[in-house]
Amino acid sequence: MRTVEWNYATSQLQMIDQRLLPGELTVAVFDDYREVSQAISDMVVRGAPAIGAAAGFGLALAAQQSTARKVESLHSDMEEAANFLKRARPTAVNLTWALERILRKTYCVMDHGSADDLRLAILNEAQRIADEDVEINKRIAMHGAQLIADGDVIIHHCNTGALATVDWGTALGVIRMAHEQGKKIHVLVDETRPRLQGARLTAWELTQYGIPFDIITDNAAGYFLRAGQAQKVFVGSDRTAANGDVANKIGTYMLALATHDNGVPFYAVVPTSTVDLSLASGGMIPIEERDQAEVLGLTFQGMLAHPEGATARNPAFDVTPHRLITGIITENGVAYPPYGENLERVVKKKETP
Ligand code: MRU
Repeated sequence: MRTVEWNYATSQLQMIDQRLLPGELTVAVFDDYREVSQAISDMVVRGAPAIGAAAGFGLALAAQQSTARKVESLHSDMEEAANFLKRARPTAVNLTWALERILRKTYCVMDHGSADDLRLAILNEAQRIADEDVEINKRIAMHGAQLIADGDVIIHHCNTGALATVDWGTALGVIRMAHEQGKKIHVLVDETRPRLQGARLTAWELTQYGIPFDIITDNAAGYFLRAGQAQKVFVGSDRTAANGDVANKIGTYMLALATHDNGVPFYAVVPTSTVDLSLASGGMIPIEERDQAEVLGLTFQGMLAHPEGATARNPAFDVTPHRLITGIITENGVAYPPYGENLERVVKKKETP
């Protein structure tokens, strides 16, 4: 099943509840866009493309919930709902991208259609975003898999697989494609503190695909790179600026530094919907800081692993400067430095499938 899916029989949104994995595979059902927004904030659904698709269907729910009869009033309800949904998480640009794409579409219907035509157009566009995501991820995977050699050991950070997208995945999708092509690969899975997307979600997905892996602590990556025991690093992105700076899960920057220092290729896998050409550099990307409770509360040998009353900081993302990135893999091909010229060219290029 898909991570994010519209149920046409019940007109509800269904999403895998990622907080419960790997213990339980449970599908959460939504019929209120405010609850979808809460689910994005609480990380029932997470990963930039999955968040974008969820927000799109959230807007379709908002259209369904609105009692507006006139197209203009429905449109203004949609703008209000989109603004509400946009606030759920700040870093992944796919959220805003998907909502704005749908709102743009609605302007065309406004001139000649009824409120119900508008409702249908919103759902159709949300569905298109979801369907395109899967197709785009497979195109990315074909480009990226060419960079993987038989026998490679690959370090991967966070979760960028089917769970982080509608289906298939970005960086993990590249790894999966290489495996399906018959290449013998091994993945070192960063556990990804504090929410353990690597240990919980990536390791769970790799088990399903039959790809061999070992979980490593985030701070062990440098050891394997320095020992020559990893040949490549693949990560995803939540927002990539015009100069190629990549915002991704906290810890990506430290991983990129250690990778660069050891002369190992470091690839960011980025659908063009995650590239924000309006931002000149990564310093302009809003970075989400989450509740300190996600960092605190660990136990060690049955006792709290920190003094009672300790406080914590919890930035959810960091920015990796473009100088540390070997290539940015998109559905239109791979962009190489200088990114200032090459990224925009690749983003705007329409690849003939
Ligand atoms: O906080 P999360 O789990 O939503 O963070 C996810 C990531 O950082 C992923 O690497 C990114 O969204 C790319 S996923 C295709």
